Amino acid sequence: QYYVVIMAGGIGSRFWPKSRTSYPKQFLDILNEGRTLIQSTFDRFARFIPKENIYIVTTKEYEEIIKRQLPEARHDNILFEPSRKNTAPCIAYASYKLALQNPEAKLICAPADHLIKDEDNFQRVCLRALDFVDHLNAFVTLGIKPTYPNTGYGYIQHDVMAVADEIYKVRTFTEKPNLDLAKTFLASGDFLWNAGIFVWKTRNILTAFEKYLPEMHELFQSEIHHFNTPGEAEAIERIYPQCSSVSIDYGIMEKADNVYVIPSSFGWSDLGTWNSAYENLEKDYLENAVVGNNVVIIDSTHCMVQADDKKLVLLQGLEDFIVVDTNDVLLICKKDREQEIKEFVAEVKRKK
Ligand code: GDD
Ligand code: MG
Repeated sequence: QYYVVIMAGGIGSRFWPKSRTSYPKQFLDILNEGRTLIQSTFDRFARFIPKENIYIVTTKEYEEIIKRQLPEARHDNILFEPSRKNTAPCIAYASYKLALQNPEAKLICAPADHLIKDEDNFQRVCLRALDFVDHLNAFVTLGIKPTYPNTGYGYIQHDVMAVADEIYKVRTFTEKPNLDLAKTFLASGDFLWNAGIFVWKTRNILTAFEKYLPEMHELFQSEIHHFNTPGEAEAIERIYPQCSSVSIDYGIMEKADNVYVIPSSFGWSDLGTWNSAYENLEKDYLENAVVGNNVVIIDSTHCMVQADDKKLVLLQGLEDFIVVDTNDVLLICKKDREQEIKEFVAEVKRKK
């Protein structure tokens, strides 16, 4: 039996001002494709996983948005967290719950906000991983050939020899290295980016929680008899305030010794930033990427423009800028300084 857990509780802060805590990027149609990122994610898995086996974990504040955007998702499969505690508790919640039904369940845990262009190959790789973890206590992650020293990703180094068709044992997993280390990793040619898509058997990931995050394990274990009963929401309300905030990458993947990787290429982008949106959008003849029907560009090149259609947006003489116009905020920012957007937002919040 194959299952999916879609992690959909992040806030996508680097996509400000389009992505807000109240309406983060997984619920936006960043590339103007007619479907939001979470809708595309759901569709991508629904091609090969039965809808009743697709779970979504998010925080309570997004309940209305999720139900509106994914009417095809089973209500009982949408799990609500009382607060944001990063991905380890999110995965723990879904896994402890699922284990009650089926400890042998083979599970894909995936972000809600990525772009994947080659869905056929993605499906093939997922099925390969699901098959592999059936036979072995293995945590498979999908690896992407890196192109620049991004410090927001996990870096994976694997053995030279494959252990099975397409599958390599991971030697080191380094989450979010500093820039120097990321540069070293990239230069060595020996590392892959972690795509953040994990495949394992439910029983085995729970054993890893017990081993590497024992307090979290205890917390869930002590309330598990309420899961799948009317008392579940209250049990979760008791667990979360005591739960530490940690990602699955730091909490388990960096430490476990049974991690494997499938080097993959399926047109992946985590669409983490305006620059990555720019990369993935079609450009006009002056290399501008425009989302919005009411934008006029004169003598400008290499700009990323995203605008609501409410007013005319006119650019002249700009090179390498990000321009994002929303209802209440207009952002104009140099493309190569977008990593500072987080700081701008903090500054704005301080001033308010
Ligand atoms: N339910 C829930 N609750 N979901 C969450 C929470 C939470 O508290 N925090 C994050 N998420 C969701 C996000 O919405 C996203 O879909 C996914 O979990 C991953 O979280 P991110 O916060 O986006 O992680 P990241 O991008 O910093 O790092 C991860 O992804 C990289 C690739 O994009 C790591 O796995 C890295 O190793 C990896 O390279
Ligand atoms: Mg991310």
